[in-house]
Amino acid sequence: MKLLEKVTLGKQTLQNALAMAPMTRSRADIEGVISDITTLYYTQRASAGLLITEGINISEQALGSPYTPGIYTNDQIEAWKKVTKSVHENGGVIYAQLWHTGRVGHSVDRNGKLPVAPSAVAIKGQQHFTAEGMKDYEVPHELTTEEIMQIVKDYGTAAKNAIEAGFDGVELHAAFGYLPNQFLSESANLRTDEYGGSVENRNRFVLEVMKELVDAAGSDKVGIKLSPTIYYNNIENSDPEAQFKPLIESLNELPLAYVHLMNAMFPLDNHPHYPTDIMGTFGSVSKHLVIANAGYDKASGEAELEKGIAKMISYGSLFLANPDLAKRFELDAEFNQADQATMYGGGAHGYTDYPFLND
Ligand SMILES: Cc1cc2nc3c(=O)[nH]c(=O)nc-3n(C[C@H](O)[C@H](O)[C@H](O)COP(=O)(O)O)c2cc1C
Repeated sequence: MKLLEKVTLGKQTLQNALAMAPMTRSRADIEGVISDITTLYYTQRASAGLLITEGINISEQALGSPYTPGIYTNDQIEAWKKVTKSVHENGGVIYAQLWHTGRVGHSVDRNGKLPVAPSAVAIKGQQHFTAEGMKDYEVPHELTTEEIMQIVKDYGTAAKNAIEAGFDGVELHAAFGYLPNQFLSESANLRTDEYGGSVENRNRFVLEVMKELVDAAGSDKVGIKLSPTIYYNNIENSDPEAQFKPLIESLNELPLAYVHLMNAMFPLDNHPHYPTDIMGTFGSVSKHLVIANAGYDKASGEAELEKGIAKMISYGSLFLANPDLAKRFELDAEFNQADQATMYGGGAHGYTDYPFLND
């Protein structure tokens, strides 16, 4: 079974082709510092070939939701050192997902400061979960060129901090409608300067950040997560292929570890022009290792690897609920089901108490 075969990622050999997909669990403290239960949570899942952490805020400005962790203060970095040490002692490999939420946040969780975005366009038709309950999205602050340059630097600093904290590499969260995805989208990016108005200009921010991350973390230690056809968070593109294929071609020029691609996840009835074969359409353009994500089980993951484009499959909710997922695949065992109620926030329950096969 390809899923359980070793894979070379960058300069590292992974024990299998399973990645744990990044998952926000909102169990840090209000200062964005994780505690020992987070060390236990990741350590329990160290038999994945690759662990990708939950989104980690790169700066105070990046924060969209309370109790999500950061990697920009000393206390935050020190806490992550315990995670990486324990995962490594248990034979795992772990990348930090670097997160800037852009307009997907609310001022009530940001010391009264408005979220920031490429353009002053609010998300409509959805609400945001805040410390004060569900709220409509606000019109975000439109970033100046100087502010954009500062964010690129903040990503570099976060990547340096991640390496100092012992991570094997970093992943740019450029999917699901967060800041980098906002720059890539015609609905969220209405800029007329060098960061908007054309395919090349909309791709510029992500490419600048990726170069900064490679400079900070090193060759073969940087990945990127993309969702070319996910329209959640009001992300629209008239032609996703025209936007994302040149982006992936430009990423081919950088010494990256991988490109992590998400399938659509939501119905495309209202988007008949969107491609449905994500790995075939976009993955085939990448010369880097492709990790396929979204909606896979064991059989469909194995079938995706057999097609030859993706070399790894990342699993989200299956890994959330099954710390020993690789073992369960190997033995064709039953799976624990993920509990929606304990996904975000709370303590150990629904976090570190999912049973192992032998429990
Ligand atoms: C509780 C939860 C939190 C998530 N948080 C993140 C996140 O922080 N960053 C990210 O890129 N994706 C996040 N995702 C999406 C997953 O990484 C993955 O793309 C999605 O669950 C689809 O994979 P699956 O079908 O194997 O679950 C989250 C998913 C879940 C279930």
